[in-house]
Amino acid sequence: MKDYLGYQGKICVVTGAASGMGKATCEMLLDLGAKVYAMDIAEITLPVEKCIKVNLGDKASVDEAFTQLPDHIDRFFGIAGVSGVKTDFETTVAINFVGHKYIIADYLTQRMGDGGSIALMGSLGGTGWLETREELSPLVEAQGYEATMKALDEMAARVAKKDYGKMAGLQGYFLSKRAMTWYVKKMTAFFADRGIRINIICPGSTQTQLTDQWASLLDAKAMQGQKEARYAQPSEMAGPIIFANSDMASYMSGQHIYIDYGQNAINEYTNPTREFKLVSL
Ligand SMILES: NC(=O)c1ccc[n+]([C@@H]2O[C@H](COP(=O)([O-])OP(=O)(O)OC[C@H]3O[C@@H](n4cnc5c(N)ncnc54)[C@H](O)[C@@H]3O)[C@@H](O)[C@H]2O)c1
Repeated sequence: MKDYLGYQGKICVVTGAASGMGKATCEMLLDLGAKVYAMDIAEITLPVEKCIKVNLGDKASVDEAFTQLPDHIDRFFGIAGVSGVKTDFETTVAINFVGHKYIIADYLTQRMGDGGSIALMGSLGGTGWLETREELSPLVEAQGYEATMKALDEMAARVAKKDYGKMAGLQGYFLSKRAMTWYVKKMTAFFADRGIRINIICPGSTQTQLTDQWASLLDAKAMQGQKEARYAQPSEMAGPIIFANSDMASYMSGQHIYIDYGQNAINEYTNPTREFKLVSL
């Protein structure tokens, strides 16, 4: 059978490989004949090429992890993330956004060549990136890890002055996903010049550890809309992200793609002028 997706023998690096969508992605990639390098802070139990422990919120840990990765990477899947329920604002953004930004800017620019592809896991919660781009700009435009962390420190200081209480980490979650989407747009031209594609998948509610954590934080009323709809399964996000990084998507770049069974379309249609207040720094 022809390898239409083009994963046979390809070096694929996946963050968040220990559970949920990242694990489901690794399993499919293995079935497709890819050479999978799986990264996570938690233990990974998959028969991949290499399992690599990493804390995306710690630059030194990312640097150490990349000493264990091949010099050439064909496909990168940035899937790891925290919900913001158990982590504060700054840690949430550092893991979800800054760690992946650092990998893309400092490592993938060096280790990926013509024909390479990057796909990230954003969120339906990242909607509003365009409307909040000015707030996001210091974080997205900062050059280098230290400057990005400095921009984040300044945002965190402003957030600390607001009374977000236990919702502060969740503010960080939304901000991190918006920043990631905006960063994809920023990097599209840079990578296009090098023959590399970059896209971001934006999932709706998917049954993983994260949805359990959000359910523990948000009250029943806030979760009601989500409970009535079916949660996606992790494999239903693995499929789209694998497609985005596949040869079948060879003309697709710079896209943010909602995989939410139409939730964003419904929101846009029913409330096209809605305001995005959640990241109110
Ligand atoms: N589940 C949902 O409803 C939902 C919705 C939209 C977006 N997402 C996004 O999907 C992605 C995957 O999450 P999931 O739902 O599969 O949850 P998950 O908790 O099953 O997977 C997240 C993985 O990230 C890893 N991780 C957490 N902190 C890390 C760190 N500091 N360094 C390295 N790895 C770390 C975890 O150990 C875990 O294996 C996340 O980026 C999340 O924001 C999830």
